[in-house]
Amino acid sequence: MEYIDLGHKPGDEVVCRFYVEPNDMSLEDACSHIAGESSIGTWTELSTMKPEIAGKLKPHVYFLDRDSGMVDISYPVELFEPGNMPQILSSISGNIYGMKAVENLRLVDFSFPKSLAESFMGPRYGIDGVRGISGVVDRPLVGTIVKPKVGLSSREHSEVAYKSWIGGCDIVKDDENLTSQEFNPFQDRVIATLEARDAAEEETGEKKIYMPNVTAESNEMTERAEFVKGEGGRYVMVDILTSGFSAVQTLRGLDSDLVLHAHRAMHAALTRNKRHGISMKALARIARFIGVDQLHIGTVVGKMEGDRREVEDIRKVITEDLYGINPVFPVCSGGLHPGSLPDLVSILGQDIIIQAGGGVHGHPDGTEAGAQAMRQSLDAVMQDVSLEEYALSHPELRKALETWVA
Ligand code: 3PG
Ligand code: 3PG
Ligand code: MG
Repeated sequence: MEYIDLGHKPGDEVVCRFYVEPNDMSLEDACSHIAGESSIGTWTELSTMKPEIAGKLKPHVYFLDRDSGMVDISYPVELFEPGNMPQILSSISGNIYGMKAVENLRLVDFSFPKSLAESFMGPRYGIDGVRGISGVVDRPLVGTIVKPKVGLSSREHSEVAYKSWIGGCDIVKDDENLTSQEFNPFQDRVIATLEARDAAEEETGEKKIYMPNVTAESNEMTERAEFVKGEGGRYVMVDILTSGFSAVQTLRGLDSDLVLHAHRAMHAALTRNKRHGISMKALARIARFIGVDQLHIGTVVGKMEGDRREVEDIRKVITEDLYGINPVFPVCSGGLHPGSLPDLVSILGQDIIIQAGGGVHGHPDGTEAGAQAMRQSLDAVMQDVSLEEYALSHPELRKALETWVA
């Protein structure tokens, strides 16, 4: 089967950009293996193949760049089941990584034609929707992750949450590995923390958000999401890679109006090696199609890997205009503290959610002072005043800067 067709102009097809390192064969041959394995081919010619099948379903390798190793392959949309993300990924991003024909292979980016894109639910709220619910319209949202990640009781967790909100955080979220352990059962935590949220709203006059982590087996996850809803919660958080995209689609399909916050724990197993795997940009597109409202994109300045160009690219694919699908609110989290905010906002702008765990609960004067320092830092950035100057009249910020910047 001949898949190389450099004259082909893709129409309403799924287009994938790969980085390809062939293993002991030409780039063309490696690309033919990739295109075939993801569609109608296998390692040898088939007696069962019919010209009608090839005529309708054959992919085209239409761009190859030997210098960069970048390759574009288009796949007829009929190869795919609408609304079925696992099936699509088993095709375009399935067996191919393990083929002996490639030394390394990375899905760098992809696009769907409108019909396939619209077969997914997309984000319910998007950035404007989340801003409407949170009441925060003209600045980044600021949040914290209760720390230690695991170990606090449900009651202690709710107390830390309360102090964070009182100090000035808009959002409190669970950490990615806190679900329903014996020391902190899910239901007890949700009840106590939503009570704390109500008290903090009353005290501050601001809307406060709690994002409990519902990550679990998908039936259990559904029950947990429904429990949150029943207790008056508006948000849930889910670890989208470890739960699986199908489970996230289930969550999005629930008859509820919950905002979905997506944590990306485990993404780096796929994304970190730049010569192999799946780029975070591609994963971010998947997350947008399946309908999360908020997604961790990296920080550039924090504790996790991800350079400026990469993080900007991820932000772009989840926020740019795309067939009228709602944008996803970018979340920056991981190693941030009050001193990080000027650089972060100057790089990524104001349509971001800024979260700090250690950078709040590691403040020498405790959680409330830590949350105050974060909010003061954001206020300074919004007023275009330097942190050093703002810190002169804001002791919590001053101490944070002494702790983490000086
Ligand atoms: C998260 O889940 O986003 C974090 O746990 C960030 O924690 P850190 O601010 O302490 O790095
Ligand atoms: C954490 O849990 O420490 C982080 O939030 C990880 O952040 P990232 O997935 O955005 O890099
Ligand atoms: Mg975390």
